[in-house]
Amino acid sequence: MRSLLSIRTLEPEEILDLLGRAARFREALAAGEQISRPRRSIGMLFFENSTRTRVSFEQAAFQLGMRSVNFSGEGSSASKGETLKDTILTLRHEKLEGLVVRHRSSGSAQLAAEHFGGPVVNAGDGEHEHPTQALGDALTIQQRLGRIDGLRIAIIGDVLHSRVARSNAWLLTKLGAEVRFIGPRTLLPSHTSRLPGEVYYDLRSGLAGCHAAMCLRLQHERMREGMFISRGEFTRLYQINRASLKAANPDCIVMHPGPLNRGIEIDDETADSPRSAVTDQITNGIYVRMAALDWVFEEGAA
Ligand code: NCD
Repeated sequence: MRSLLSIRTLEPEEILDLLGRAARFREALAAGEQISRPRRSIGMLFFENSTRTRVSFEQAAFQLGMRSVNFSGEGSSASKGETLKDTILTLRHEKLEGLVVRHRSSGSAQLAAEHFGGPVVNAGDGEHEHPTQALGDALTIQQRLGRIDGLRIAIIGDVLHSRVARSNAWLLTKLGAEVRFIGPRTLLPSHTSRLPGEVYYDLRSGLAGCHAAMCLRLQHERMREGMFISRGEFTRLYQINRASLKAANPDCIVMHPGPLNRGIEIDDETADSPRSAVTDQITNGIYVRMAALDWVFEEGAA
């Protein structure tokens, strides 16, 4: 048994193992095979809003024959002032066997793992990491482009507040891709940050020769005043649309973790075009979460 808390701490072989399992689950389900794993109760702790991540973890647990026990911040003792540590200890003694945790604080998944005593999967901790989103994005790139090694991939917009950007940057560089961050200065990590990738303030120069363009939502809930150029200016300078994509490779795919703010970071036409991989990202999210649950419960793994 082990936990899946971040991509930064994984070896490339572990990432490939997770992606390989996900691809096999996708094939097995497409072939109508029944997948059976030991019956286990998994706590789904979502202290922050979620649509895709939550539903795909539930779908993944169901496909593996596991049972999910849902738990959200509202409607639980967390709203009565219980600390995260006490909530985790409670769930441990309720005999849950695994936890999926989303929480607004960076490091919360690690804290949960320290107190739970069983496997924990990070479903997004603050601005830190969102490992299963990056795995689903990588599976989508492999499916659409056939490889990751040697590709040039742009991550555009609010990189500073994005756990998706962080997990993707680590994963893609560990598997041999070149990562570029594109956005306004106030929304990009400073040069002192240890994130792997080149920084571009100009969208067209950043997109040159790119095989995939990943858009990010402007995460207003994490912004401090003065960090943000106007919505109109952001749209004019950084929106992914037919015109700006002319700077990228002709067959550049467009990605977005969701939720999309159409008309801001991406326009309608591009979001719904054949080059958009958004719906593939959603479906692949189920297979990588199956892989994650399978991987954390593996016998003998440390
Ligand atoms: C993202 C998240 O919550 O980190 N969405 C997701 O999980 N697919 C990105 C966002 O909120 O913009």
